[in-house]
Amino acid sequence: MENVLLRGELLADLPLIVNAFLVIEDDLISDYGSMDQLPSNYIDDHIPCYDAKGASVLPSWIDSHTHLVFAASRESEFVDKINGLTYAEIAAKGGGILHSAYTLNNTSEEVLYESAWIRLQELIRLGTGAIEIKSGYGLTVEGELKMLRVIKQLQRDSPIPIKASFLGAHTYPMAYKNNHQGYIDLIKHEMLPIIAQDNLADYIDVFCEEGFFSVAETLEICQAGKAIGLVPKIHANQLSISGGVEAGIELGALSVDHLESMDHKAIKSLAASNTIGTLLPTAAYFLRMPYQPARELINAGCAIAIASDYNPGSSPSGNMNTVVSMSCIQLKMLPEEAINAATINAAYAMGLETKLGSIMKGKLANLIFTKPVSSLAYIPYSFGSNLIDKVMINGAFQ
Ligand code: NIG
Ligand code: FE
Repeated sequence: MENVLLRGELLADLPLIVNAFLVIEDDLISDYGSMDQLPSNYIDDHIPCYDAKGASVLPSWIDSHTHLVFAASRESEFVDKINGLTYAEIAAKGGGILHSAYTLNNTSEEVLYESAWIRLQELIRLGTGAIEIKSGYGLTVEGELKMLRVIKQLQRDSPIPIKASFLGAHTYPMAYKNNHQGYIDLIKHEMLPIIAQDNLADYIDVFCEEGFFSVAETLEICQAGKAIGLVPKIHANQLSISGGVEAGIELGALSVDHLESMDHKAIKSLAASNTIGTLLPTAAYFLRMPYQPARELINAGCAIAIASDYNPGSSPSGNMNTVVSMSCIQLKMLPEEAINAATINAAYAMGLETKLGSIMKGKLANLIFTKPVSSLAYIPYSFGSNLIDKVMINGAFQ
């Protein structure tokens, strides 16, 4: 099997072997194939063997967009939204991201680490085999660096690969509401140099949105990030057509994420680029926003991934099984397309395509073993049921 980023019709291409064998050596996949072609040297009493008995074996989910580190949940805003307030209205009255920043700055690094570690363990049990985590709830030099240090410690301790994104430009803190350049300078001259020196991030992210960061501000911040080796991944076109998609493409971003609001021009530019469009359907669901136009994006030839956006404000769940189901139910993606978007294309969206994202010789054995299912389509179809029987990480059952 070739390792390629899947676009257009290729996204539905998910080869399946019925009655298969899979060989794992140490933490890697070393061979696989149909049982009728099992090489005789694999039949050896000294080699431990596991009969998966009717399970489907899938590559682990790759969650390429999360805000896993946060200090407190925000269910009071959830009720505000039920009572009619919008995400933007809650943000404008100091709720939302600013509220998360307030609680995060008042929470110790140890406590932040502990709660994020518990969330990470839950996600691994739900089949996530690699994860990207953003800062962005600090919005002060100390708060942002604290978040990135927590992510770094998670990277050291976690059995699954973690990538870190610096999202200092998540929203303007109150003190800089009328002094945007002051905050941008803080990011450029106080935060980025320490991030570079301590190697605290892989990516730079900006929330490019009306009322948050303009296109010009996004470009300035990302250029400064690129100068220290960070690759852009942008929050784009979530609440409105913000120009974030085109800005991301101009910057050579690895991905532009959200894409609830897309027009023909943005779809065409994305299709002609090497930038991946990462769709976050649970955020659209939770905020009652229009769903991402996955079919138009696929038909136009865009490379798309799907991710959870796990965060306390717009997607308080990191369950990738739900994301895959919702992508089929609401975004009208085929089961094969959703699975590919949550595995191989998502691996590309966090630079892990040579290590993870598919069952291929030499890739890490991070795998999902399902309970017996009647077909692949049954997995997204039976939304809400936990069909995961076992999870394997680095070649070992968890
Ligand atoms: O990806 N839109 C920006 N950031 C997050 C939400 C953050 C929050 O509300 O705390 C998102 O949806
Ligand atoms: Fe996000």
